[in-house]
Amino acid sequence: MNMKQGRNVVVVGTQWGDEGKGKLVDWLTESAQGVVRFQGGHNAGHTLVINGVKTALHLIPSGIMRGGVKCYIGNGVVLSVPKLLEEIAGLEKAGVEVRSRLRVSEACPLILPYHVALDVAREAAKEKAGTAKIGTTGRGIGPAYEDKVARRAIRVQDLKYPERFATKLRENLALHNHVLVNFLGAEPVDFDTTYNEAMAYAKALLPMVADVSRELNDANKAGANLLFEGAQGTLLDVDHGTYPFVTSSNCVAGNAAAGSGVGPGMLHYILGITKAYCTRVGGGPFPTELEWEKEGTPGYHMSTVGAEKGVTTGRSRRCGWFDAALLKRSAQVNGLSGLCITKLDVLDGLKELMLCTGYELDGETIDILPMGADEIARCKPIYEVIPGWTETTVGVTDMDKLPANARQYLARIAEVTGVPVHMVSTSPDRDHTILLHNPFAA
Ligand code: IMP
Repeated sequence: MNMKQGRNVVVVGTQWGDEGKGKLVDWLTESAQGVVRFQGGHNAGHTLVINGVKTALHLIPSGIMRGGVKCYIGNGVVLSVPKLLEEIAGLEKAGVEVRSRLRVSEACPLILPYHVALDVAREAAKEKAGTAKIGTTGRGIGPAYEDKVARRAIRVQDLKYPERFATKLRENLALHNHVLVNFLGAEPVDFDTTYNEAMAYAKALLPMVADVSRELNDANKAGANLLFEGAQGTLLDVDHGTYPFVTSSNCVAGNAAAGSGVGPGMLHYILGITKAYCTRVGGGPFPTELEWEKEGTPGYHMSTVGAEKGVTTGRSRRCGWFDAALLKRSAQVNGLSGLCITKLDVLDGLKELMLCTGYELDGETIDILPMGADEIARCKPIYEVIPGWTETTVGVTDMDKLPANARQYLARIAEVTGVPVHMVSTSPDRDHTILLHNPFAA
């Protein structure tokens, strides 16, 4: 029998993360049988609202909220096992079955206590020296990826072999404790505590460990639709983002293949989740940033109406106008098939909207975000004014029911970026979505 191969969709954030991917992934999961994380770690935070109840997920794909859907953590993810187990316990408490539906790649590098210690101590050292902090989430993400690339990472599969684990841990601690104590002036990390803790959590983790690459390929061949759930956003990508103010993984769509062990030909449709304005947490340049702490300003409106606070760290997000020149870069490096514009309703009531269509950089006009933080920091945005709307768009599910100015705003975004708008989200509720083209439809 010749089974039809499943169709696969990649969801990526096109700005600096926090575009509202969690809701869309959960919504799209109706058409998928598997949801896959392929990069990042528990620095991500997705808030879902189901039946009016808020749930925050950091590592487990949002698809877990739908019974019957399988969830996969691919090799491209750096894994904190205690955080994963904590998240599983929380979901189980809420009555969600996780362990039989979650598969974790044996090739995931582990995040261990020394990664967290290094992350925190480095940021503290930057603060002390008065140099610009990255503003990391302090979860050990960067140091864990450094170990992966340096070929000394301890991976999930090492947990199966206590002696091998101990040897690698000893080698890693010799190096990292040297740096922690002598270079960063921090406390060393203890071998016994780290080892005993890891062996204890290995027991709970190992039944979920699998050859994720093989399972994904087999499932897809057998007809399962897969959804690849990107974390963070394109401008936080370690190569294409506002380097060095970025995370330490590739957040772009292409990494869905490398980070999970499927071929790039299996990525059939790329959905770019795009907030109707811009936000960013942490340091680094942000050309269209507004004053967002002063009452009565458009930035304050975005910050308060949009409830712009980080899910993972609780930090306030910086807010600014929509940047179409940035989105052009994002469309290019991801190969976007369509856009999903989120939080359109947050702009309800603003008199006029400014849309950035390019920049002035060193006396020249450019129409796409340049590469790297230093160049981006010198960009002066060029704006187009678009009239706002007074009507509410909250909960609208039909494009024709949007105010004319809101439709004009969306049309202009599509025109400037060259990417069609296929979906619009009009509230955190998963049913409040305008669907113009279903990414799972061929
Ligand atoms: P790290 O990923 O913890 O190393 O942090 C590096 C940068 O990425 C910081 O600016 C963080 O605030 C940002 N970042 C990491 N994860 C997320 C996310 O899920 N949403 C938004 N920003 C993030």
